[in-house]
Amino acid sequence: KITPVLLCGGSGTRLWPLSRKSYPKQFVPLIGDNTLFQASALRLSGATEALSFEKPVVLTNSDFRFIVTEQLAGVGIDPGAVVIEPEGRNTAPAVLAAALRVAETDPEAIMLVAPSDHVVPDPEAFRDAVARGLEAVEAGDLVTFGITPDRAETGYGYLDLSDKPGKDRAAVKLNRFVEKPDAARAEEMVKAGNFLWNAGIFLFRARDIIDAFKTHAKDLMKPVRGALAEAEVDLGFLRLAPGPWGEAEDISIDYAVMEKAENLSVVPYDGGWSDLGGWDAVWRDSGPDENGVVTSGEATAIDCTNSLLRSENERLEVVGIGLDNIMAVAMNDAVLVADMSRAQDVKEAVNALKAKG
Ligand code: GDD
Ligand code: MG
Repeated sequence: KITPVLLCGGSGTRLWPLSRKSYPKQFVPLIGDNTLFQASALRLSGATEALSFEKPVVLTNSDFRFIVTEQLAGVGIDPGAVVIEPEGRNTAPAVLAAALRVAETDPEAIMLVAPSDHVVPDPEAFRDAVARGLEAVEAGDLVTFGITPDRAETGYGYLDLSDKPGKDRAAVKLNRFVEKPDAARAEEMVKAGNFLWNAGIFLFRARDIIDAFKTHAKDLMKPVRGALAEAEVDLGFLRLAPGPWGEAEDISIDYAVMEKAENLSVVPYDGGWSDLGGWDAVWRDSGPDENGVVTSGEATAIDCTNSLLRSENERLEVVGIGLDNIMAVAMNDAVLVADMSRAQDVKEAVNALKAKG
């Protein structure tokens, strides 16, 4: 049995103005009827012949706790635990807290750590990939999932494969893990051909990831252990103790552990995946028409190419004429208009607005 660990603490600022600090993208039905968070929980629930899942452990913050329980109830999933981080310290402390908690009952337990804001159009294919990782996990490896790159993306981690993946898409040992390279390095790796993107999803035994933290990020052990030991149970939520938690370094699991670990394997996965890391990704994944145009809600495109026009307000009509490579997203209280190539800079807008107060 596998324990899903759903990471649900990020604020998704690159999808502003749809994604807000108070209501980030994982809780919004961006593509399809369920929210990304609900779809992630459903994908990692139930049982098939090859796999079965325990109740999920969800890691989130105080603001989202009721959204989390409501949205899980909405799809009939009962959380095993909802852990509340007093403040976001990035994914390394969160994953360590989950591992220590899971290990309390069973250090051999297998955890599947997954973001809650990704799009995985074929859940069956994804579960097959998870099953292909189990052998490497039993051998003590930390398993990643690898996506074939189609561009020199700098927002992802890269996996350096020791060998070509076989037709059976079985797990392959990694030489190393390179988190978010600069553009030149990304270009080289895509050209080299033996690299896959890190999907940001991890499979390992609780005790193996705890060992990896002890070896590569030992300064996190004390604060995270402390935050769990002094945690409060509050309305069924497990609230980590703010004092010790505040002492934990703010660092991602990719930098803290994966770049340093040597017992890494990757399962090649080609069942479709997107991290919706920006409006350009939403545009790409929404199936642009023959002119490359995506409209959603009350939006009309006239003579436009390669553009996204979206209105979230039924009384607000968005019309684009003669646009190329433009994204326009209208909400009740904010409108974003930007060059599509600047999709990653939307987080700067959020920072600028924050600074304005
Ligand atoms: N609970 C919790 N607490 N969750 C968090 C926190 C936190 O402090 N910070 C981030 N998360 C959640 C996010 O909501 C997201 O679901 C997931 O953890 C990953 O964090 P991101 O901030 O989205 O990471 P990234 O996209 O920059 O990079 C990671 O994912 C890429 C693929 O999408 C890395 O693993 C890359 O190597 C990978 O390529
Ligand atoms: Mg992400």
